[in-house]
This record gives sequence, C-alpha cells and structure tokens, in this order.
Amino acid sequence: MVQEIQATDYVIEVGSLVDSSFVSLLTTKYATSKKIILVDENTHDECLEYLLTAFDGLEEAEVMLLPEGEENKVMEVCFQVWEAFSEYGVGRRDLVINLGGGVVTDMGGFIASIYKRGVDFINIPTSLLGMVDASVGGKTGIDMGMYKNQLGVFANPQRVFVDLGFLNTLPSMELANGFAEMLKHGLIADKNHWENIKNLNPREDEWNSDWIIESIQIKNDIVIADPFEKDLRKKLNFGHTFGHAFEGMSLGWENPIPHGHAVALGMLAEAFLSLDRDLLSNEDFEEIKATITSRFEMMSFSEEVVNPLFELMQNDKKNFDQKIKCVLLTGIGSSVLDQELTEMDVQKVIQFFETLT
Ligand SMILES: NC(=O)c1ccc[n+]([C@@H]2O[C@H](COP(=O)([O-])OP(=O)(O)OC[C@H]3O[C@@H](n4cnc5c(N)ncnc54)[C@H](O)[C@@H]3O)[C@@H](O)[C@H]2O)c1
Repeated sequence: MVQEIQATDYVIEVGSLVDSSFVSLLTTKYATSKKIILVDENTHDECLEYLLTAFDGLEEAEVMLLPEGEENKVMEVCFQVWEAFSEYGVGRRDLVINLGGGVVTDMGGFIASIYKRGVDFINIPTSLLGMVDASVGGKTGIDMGMYKNQLGVFANPQRVFVDLGFLNTLPSMELANGFAEMLKHGLIADKNHWENIKNLNPREDEWNSDWIIESIQIKNDIVIADPFEKDLRKKLNFGHTFGHAFEGMSLGWENPIPHGHAVALGMLAEAFLSLDRDLLSNEDFEEIKATITSRFEMMSFSEEVVNPLFELMQNDKKNFDQKIKCVLLTGIGSSVLDQELTEMDVQKVIQFFETLT
C-alpha cells in the first residue's frame, strides 16, 4: 500500500515504488521527456539496476554519476553536470530523477532548478536521512568551502517517492545518521514520536514505515506552516548550529563527520545549553543525553576548536543582528527559536564534551 502525504504543492508517496504513481508519471506527463537519473557511486551500484529494470519508461534514460560524499556537494560538480546536460540537450520539458541520499537530492535539486531556470525533478531518497528529511521540504543546495549549504534555492520536486526497500543496502552507520534527524523531529515538536523511536537500535532494528511516516509528517507540517523559513521552520535547525559547524570543520579531515552524526553531537550540545539556561529540566536533559550517547560515538575536541567553530557559526544563515541565533529546547517536544549564542557557550560545550569520552 502506498501512503500519500500532501506537501506544499507536491505529494510525498511512501510505499513500494512499483505501486506508486511513478510508473504513470513516466508514461504520461513525462512520456516524451528525456529522463536523466542522477546517482552517486553507491546508489549507482546498489539502487540503479532496480530502477532501470522495473520501469519501462526508463530504458533510454541517461544516467549521470556524481562523486559520492559531502565533500563533493560543490559547485565544480554542478558545472560538470550542467555541461553534460547541455551536451545531452536537456530542455525545460525534461525530467531529472535524483536517486540517492541527501547529497544527491540536495545537489540534484539545485542542479535541476538552476538549469535553464528550472527543469522538473523527482526525488527518490535512498538513505534514511534522505527519506525523513533531506528529500522533502524544498531546500536544495551545495556547500561553499567549509560553509554548509551556502548556495541554494527553495525549489520543490514534482514528487517524492519513499520506498523503504532501498534501506536494505544502506550501511548501518547511515541508518544511525538518519535516526539522528528523526530524534530531532521528536525533540523539537512531538514527544510521542520521541517516545516511539527513542529505544530503537537504528543499526539493527527492522525499519517500520509508521515511524518514517511520522517523522516525515512532523517535518512536512512545519514546512507547510513556514515554507521559506521566516519563523517556525527554523525549529528544524535544532542541533544544526553546532552540527553544521562540526561537520564543516571536519570537511577537510580524512574522515569527515557525517551530517547525521554531526547533528547528533549538535543536539547534545544544544540540549546542554538549554539545561545551562534553565530552559530544559535536568530529567529531560539526562534522557536526551542517555539516548544520544548510547547510539552515537562521542567525540572530544581540544579548546583550540572553540574559535574556528564560533567563526563557522557566525556564517550561519539563521543569524541576524550580527548575532548567532540557535534553537534550544524547553522540553522534549518543545523548542524556542532565536536564542543567542556566544563564544563562551561554545567553550562550555567543548568542556562538557570532554566529560563524555
Ligand atoms: N535539504 C534538506 O532539507 C536537508 C535536510 C537534512 C540534510 N540535508 C543534507 O543531506 C546530506 C546528508 O544526507 P545523507 O546522510 O543521505 O548523505 P549521503 O547522500 O552522502 O548518503 C550517505 C551515504 O550512503 C550512501 N547511500 C545512500 N543510499 C544508499 C543505499 N540505498 N545503499 C547503499 N548506499 C547508499 C551514499 O552513497 C553515501 O555514501 C547533507 O548534505 C545534508 O546537508 C538536507
């Protein structure tokens, strides 16, 4: 059975792709369109064959390979794809299919929406993080140096197809990364969701579409209320002020911190600051700390990172009045926007992280 979730001006379908409207889209609206499938190395090897063999409309599709990983979510790669689009004669009536995790859907959505002022695109997320978060909500973009998602546009896909079958080949570490964003959805807006998922072992438990649908719905409700992040949507950035700084700082490392892991560390940092400001009870903080520390590897950082982290945070898109603004928690399931952060707060967090490893 396929469940439909109405988003702003498109629909998210959760269920088997073969039972979804993907088939009819390919053979009706896009019957005569060129189809370009964007994949990275892993989704090329693990997910593409299913798409090419199960759907008649895709025999002639042009497959374009993006280099895998956050470090490749950059303009240079976009240019190469735009040049390939030109060579292949992609036009406004054609269709881009983003088959991959958040890197492919973020960058593929950006590539499609900039090219010739916009070519239709469909997201088929293949990572848990992509399913519950990155592929929905209309944010597309790429990184610039160490600054995450500095270049981008709001652009909605024509449709999103969430087929849990793709999770079968996803490495367990990546399941944990997606789990981080699900925990975030519970923490900022829905205690029930937190209760439903907090005891899961994301690396081993069987994934249930109910939890995924719940998580998508939380994000979708927030996006519908504030599609362009004027206000309420900022909630979704809980854990990301620190998270993006950790992730950005690590982009040049041999093993960069994956987005979901960085968000998990960021949520703990920001929950700690919520406690420090008496916004969050000790009981709630301890529950959050126990949940995150038991699922994600904790890291400690030297005091030398305080200043670089603070500098990265200063470039965050949610800041205003030249102050760093972040989301803090007032409880499990409730949050408060636009809380100012100082360098002293970053220092406190780094000292707190020392106690965890
Ligand atoms: N646009 C948004 O609203 C939004 C929200 C959250 C995160 N994001 C972005 O999403 C990105 C993180 O997404 P991610 O964690 O999916 O990263 P990712 O796209 O790099 O995928 C993680 C890894 O899993 C592999 N993979 C994906 N699906 C697979 C499958 N089915 N089988 C085997 N391997 C598979 C990928 O090749 C990659 O190595 C970040 O760039 C982040 O900024 C965007």
